[in-house]
Amino acid sequence: MIQSSQPQTEPILRLRGVSKNFGAVSALTDIELDIHPGEVVALVGDNGAGKSTLVKILAGVFQPSAGTIEYLGNPVSLSGPGKALELGIATVFQDLALCENLDVVANLFLGHELAPWQLDEVGMELRAWSLLRELAARIPSVRQPIASLSGGQRQTVAIARSLLLEPKIIMLDEPTAALGVAQTAEVLNLIERVRDRGLGVIIISHNMEDVRAVADRIVVLRLGRNNGVFTADTSHQDLVAAITGASENAVTRRQKSRAEGAATREAGL
Ligand SMILES: Nc1ncnc2c1ncn2[C@@H]1O[C@H](COP(=O)(O)OP(=O)(O)OP(=O)(O)O)[C@@H](O)[C@H]1O
Ligand SMILES: [Mg+2]
Repeated sequence: MIQSSQPQTEPILRLRGVSKNFGAVSALTDIELDIHPGEVVALVGDNGAGKSTLVKILAGVFQPSAGTIEYLGNPVSLSGPGKALELGIATVFQDLALCENLDVVANLFLGHELAPWQLDEVGMELRAWSLLRELAARIPSVRQPIASLSGGQRQTVAIARSLLLEPKIIMLDEPTAALGVAQTAEVLNLIERVRDRGLGVIIISHNMEDVRAVADRIVVLRLGRNNGVFTADTSHQDLVAAITGASENAVTRRQKSRAEGAATREAGL
């Protein structure tokens, strides 16, 4: 198992011994996780491994049953979603929560209008443009309704919106799950630009190609526990082994039987 060298900087976020029980179900047990500034950490694991539960704890949606969370070196209690946001931990949930009928500007500023007493439309539009330009986002017009945007453009708007509060950590739950090849590449580029702004990025994904393309470290969860930290150059097979908990599993068996089948055919047997 490859234990990658940790970055030299102090972590923004440090979890130790974090557990979460739902009644008799242990969703998370004794989790350790460090997130540093300017790194992308992928959280991977099979269905039910505990990824969403962990993200919800960091988003202040669930309270851990045990363990400590340190933010910038201080122990914190993420007692609610407002508290997590206020500290600087932003989450883009899988459903994005955008308003279809409103335009890009309105969605970016929904809930935090620059000057709510007079809705400073010009100011908001300028800020929207400058943010999207910084992110090199491909949005044709900030006055376009969300309903007319592609999946990748919507993801971009949702990420840009969470950046307006200037967080230090941004968590993305399956940001490329519903996207085609070109849109996926665009969102992965965007994630890199967010990282280059010095944020710590946590990305949940089932797509190992995306994970390897963008992650600095890959944290594997299995049955609610840590099961290794890997680098992007780890082989697909090793990652699958950590995720499934076995070097011999359905995926590797299938690959092996296909390889053997090919060899048999080649030998003309
Ligand atoms: N609100 C809840 N009440 C009871 N059990 C829950 C609750 N939320 C999650 N669990 C359980 O906790 C475990 C971890 O679930 P979680 O949703 O975190 O997995 P996941 O890694 O996100 O899976 P997936 O890849 O399918 O999204 C599962 O056994 C799940 O049934
Ligand atoms: Mg999940």
